[in-house]
Amino acid sequence: MFRKVTSAIAAFAISAALFAGPVFAADPIVIKFSHVVAENTPKGQMANKFKDLVEERLGGKVVVEVFPNSQLFGDNKVLEAMLLGDVQMAAPSLSKFERYTKSLQLYDLPFLFKDMEAVERFQQSEAGQKLLDSVNRRGLVGLGYLHNGMKQLSSSDPLRVPEDAARKKFRIMSSDVLAAQFEAVDAVPLKKPFSEVFTLLQTKAIDGQENTWSNIYSKKFFEVQPYITESNHGLLDYMVVTSKEFWMGLPDDIKTDVKAALDEAIKFGNGVANQKSVADRQKIIDSGRSEIIQLSDAERAQWVEVMKPVWKKFEKDIGKDLIDAAYGSNM
Ligand code: LMR
Repeated sequence: MFRKVTSAIAAFAISAALFAGPVFAADPIVIKFSHVVAENTPKGQMANKFKDLVEERLGGKVVVEVFPNSQLFGDNKVLEAMLLGDVQMAAPSLSKFERYTKSLQLYDLPFLFKDMEAVERFQQSEAGQKLLDSVNRRGLVGLGYLHNGMKQLSSSDPLRVPEDAARKKFRIMSSDVLAAQFEAVDAVPLKKPFSEVFTLLQTKAIDGQENTWSNIYSKKFFEVQPYITESNHGLLDYMVVTSKEFWMGLPDDIKTDVKAALDEAIKFGNGVANQKSVADRQKIIDSGRSEIIQLSDAERAQWVEVMKPVWKKFEKDIGKDLIDAAYGSNM
């Protein structure tokens, strides 16, 4: 009897000791952030800053894993992967949402914004902010805009007037507006993922492409493109997105802190964008690998004249009011 009681006490003591052991915290929430550009770009720096801020403030509760350079998903797959729950955040260029909403085609209209200040004014306006919601009904949540900058035209031959681009093949992002923009100058647009651009240029499978100074520099396009026309003809900006399912599933306090960290990271990224649009342009000039072509006012006017009819073509899908509001932000 005594033995029975003592062994029962011993068993109780052992299980009590086990249960009184260290209390293990719940598994952290993991945010996989996938993007296609290099780390030394506005988006790359923003994503890394976001990771640092979240882990500093929510250490243990939320972990951010950043996958740059199309390591996890290319730009043609990331939004599908997000809806399947395989990735929680990304910041595709606004040109890559065409399958999800037509309204964002606005941002691809050639010569719509005269500079990045106009872009910022429009995006912060009521109409601009409302556009963040345009992806909602497809199961995505637009968390904010991030800048990269104005696009330039790079090519294997000098491009001064629209005829210079005729019959040449240009890689574009997956946007029908961008296709129409190149068709307007009788060029041949090819929709290709960002990860393939360097090889396509290097092997001369294509003649040119359009991108920002930081992308042309960080992906070394300038090393295989002897001419860059400083056209500033269009915009490359991003929308930071997550899935509705992931976002709604976050506890309220964590959601608030994650959003605050993201807003701060976006501000930081926009500063990087500003600085890189000047510094990376200069690095390309200093490399001596590409000649930068400046357009005269008369030459630029020719590009505007042939490309601007694209606006009319997409006016019905985008909405005239929206186009007017965006154009109005130039004043
Ligand atoms: C491109 O495909 O050229 C860009 O969208 C890449 C990027 O994300 O900046």
